[in-house]
Amino acid sequence: MSQENNPAGMKEKILHYLSKEQDYISGDQISKHLGISRQGLWKHIQDLKDSGYGIVAVPHLGYRLESSPDRLFPFQVYQGLNTKLIGKKVYYYEYLDSTMDLAMQLSLKSAPSGTVVLAESQTKGRGRLGRSWHSPKYKGIYLSLILRPAVSPLVSPLLTLLSAVSICEAVKTVSGLEAQIKWPNDVFIGNKKFTGILTEMNAELDKINFVVIGIGLNVNNDKKSLIAQATSLKEQGGQTINRIFLLQELLRRIEHNYFLLEEKGPKAITEKWRSNSLTLGKRVKVYCQSKHIEGFAVDIDNDGSLLIRKDSGLIQKVSSGDVMHCR
Ligand code: BTN
Repeated sequence: MSQENNPAGMKEKILHYLSKEQDYISGDQISKHLGISRQGLWKHIQDLKDSGYGIVAVPHLGYRLESSPDRLFPFQVYQGLNTKLIGKKVYYYEYLDSTMDLAMQLSLKSAPSGTVVLAESQTKGRGRLGRSWHSPKYKGIYLSLILRPAVSPLVSPLLTLLSAVSICEAVKTVSGLEAQIKWPNDVFIGNKKFTGILTEMNAELDKINFVVIGIGLNVNNDKKSLIAQATSLKEQGGQTINRIFLLQELLRRIEHNYFLLEEKGPKAITEKWRSNSLTLGKRVKVYCQSKHIEGFAVDIDNDGSLLIRKDSGLIQKVSSGDVMHCR
């Protein structure tokens, strides 16, 4: 399927209609329901078959959907999602340079809070600190989420922590695997990273205009395609993960935690973060700008900063940086 930015495109509508029914549906019924000609329907069905859909056509009976390819099509994301805000609008592409760029552009054009930009692959996936994010096709989940929280820009690091917590929760639900967060927002299983989060913000002194949270998840990547320090859920659990289920669960968890932050404040999120932390209790070196701070990671603050007890006994607060776990 070519690049698709219309979540309610005709092919999605046909698939949605077919997927609701186990039995054959006549071409006449589908055409009437969707307001297209029989010939138009036939053409769309051929395109869908070319995209990997197992659609069986039997004369006098009609069409039946037997199998779907592993794709994150919006209509599949919407099905049973049941969120109020997050993922109500999904933009889907086979390729993008980076979901961040499109999400930033959409945000400037007043895309609503909760909008998600998804790509099956990225040619210039961005990571933190100028790094790149390897985004092989159909293997991972690469998304950018637009949020417009009515809070001070100082709260934005909490949105990143909230996303990391939501990833741990969704992964546990869908795969049973226990993920942990390396401060501030890398998500690990064992000692290897499988998820990175990149947050970009457009704000004034006391007001956030919008935040874009970029999440890259290694889901079904095979071990041989991963660098030594990285892992995927498939490598860890030994099974292919249904990316749609994982994505839907992630969006639900983000929504739940976002509303929790609004209702109960930062503590509700920092408490969850602590219980999923890989960093707390470890000796760490935090590199920020040209210097580094070494000591024990003792806690996080209500604004998401890391509290480090240095060898002198002094507690130092660090709001950003790159952490290395010493032991
Ligand atoms: C990091 O670990 O450094 C953050 C990686 C963030 C990668 C995601 S993939 C989806 C979104 N689009 C991007 O270009 N980057 C983020």
